[in-house]
Amino acid sequence: MTSTRDEPLLSVQGLRTHFALNAGLLKAVDGVTFDLRAGQTLGIVGESGSGKTVLSRSIMRLNLGNNVETSGKALFDGKDLLSLPMNQMTNIWGQEIAMVFQDPMTSLNPVVKIGRQVSEHVRKHLSLSRREARELAVQLLKSVRIPEAEVAYSSFPHELSGGMRQRVSIAIALACGPQLLFADEPTTALDVTVQHQILNLLGLQQSERDMAMVLVTHDLGVVAGRTDEIIVMYAGKIVEQASTHQIFQNTSHPYTEALLRSIPKTDQPSHTRLAAIAGRPPNLITMPSGCSFSPRCPYAQERCFEEEPPLTVTKEGHATACWYQVGTEANRAAWDKNLAAGRPATLAVAEGQVIDEVPIDIGAGGA
Ligand SMILES: Nc1ncnc2c1ncn2[C@@H]1O[C@H](COP(=O)(O)OP(=O)(O)OP(=O)(O)O)[C@@H](O)[C@H]1O
Ligand SMILES: [Mg+2]
Repeated sequence: MTSTRDEPLLSVQGLRTHFALNAGLLKAVDGVTFDLRAGQTLGIVGESGSGKTVLSRSIMRLNLGNNVETSGKALFDGKDLLSLPMNQMTNIWGQEIAMVFQDPMTSLNPVVKIGRQVSEHVRKHLSLSRREARELAVQLLKSVRIPEAEVAYSSFPHELSGGMRQRVSIAIALACGPQLLFADEPTTALDVTVQHQILNLLGLQQSERDMAMVLVTHDLGVVAGRTDEIIVMYAGKIVEQASTHQIFQNTSHPYTEALLRSIPKTDQPSHTRLAAIAGRPPNLITMPSGCSFSPRCPYAQERCFEEEPPLTVTKEGHATACWYQVGTEANRAAWDKNLAAGRPATLAVAEGQVIDEVPIDIGAGGA
């Protein structure tokens, strides 16, 4: 391990992953750049289909198939993961970088008892004896707060609850002490109380082990208070990137603003309907010209439908790709102009109303 606190542990530069499909080229990830330091947590947030999983899997070299093309760099501790020979990459998997997926049933073998799955994993990577591996496996199950770890050890995955299964897959991911953990929607399949327990467990393990973590979610509420930095993705690109504090306190992209409005508020009754974002993400094969969010944006002006805004960075390191950033005079003027022109659906969204019945105004260059 040669990286210091000042150097990023992971430096992703201009990452692109495109799939060649019969219908055309699908640009799932299109020029993503970020740094992650040792011990830090990065949140990657965006709606379904924004490219979060493809991004994580590209860094891990898990997007296999001959119709995939990945370019750019993913420097991990100085080595470019994207050009590493596959045999070196497989040594990194599980040992230096590990992953926790949304559904633990995809990572656990349903016909093998939990204990054997955990102990075989540690035996393989740490060359331990059977007895040592068993002891370590039980210890790992205890460390992820599985009550009666010995009982869980002798159980099949289906005999445990979803939350317990996710704890097992976290134990396996942490077994070899990785420096970096990708957690891709690790709690969406679980109920709210268990979600909190699992997220707290991940946070605790992360700080105890000084491990870096990438927490992927479609829900900004999940990353609030749990991450150092946040990347907001839309249609394969970063639209906003800043410290978690800045993302919440100084939101600058209209898409992030809309995502924030869709977080349930604890002070609202549980039956309160949330503002969803009107319209749908664009088709990644036939992208609209200009800003990809423009067809759904309450502030969009002509320029937004024609010219793609670059990701510009303030001196505080807050990056935003928008011509009419939230909180600016230009943004207020754009709002007033759209209000006067009466673009009902998008305005309703911006006001935080429920938009189910409101027709969607996709504007010029719509999807
Ligand atoms: N193997 C593949 N071949 C072709 N297209 C793919 C492949 N994998 C993903 N895609 C496409 O890439 C885009 C991004 O998908 P991705 O799974 O990264 O989204 P996501 O942000 O993780 O969404 P979700 O929140 O639903 O998990 C989608 O349009 C998806 O259909
Ligand atoms: Mg995903």
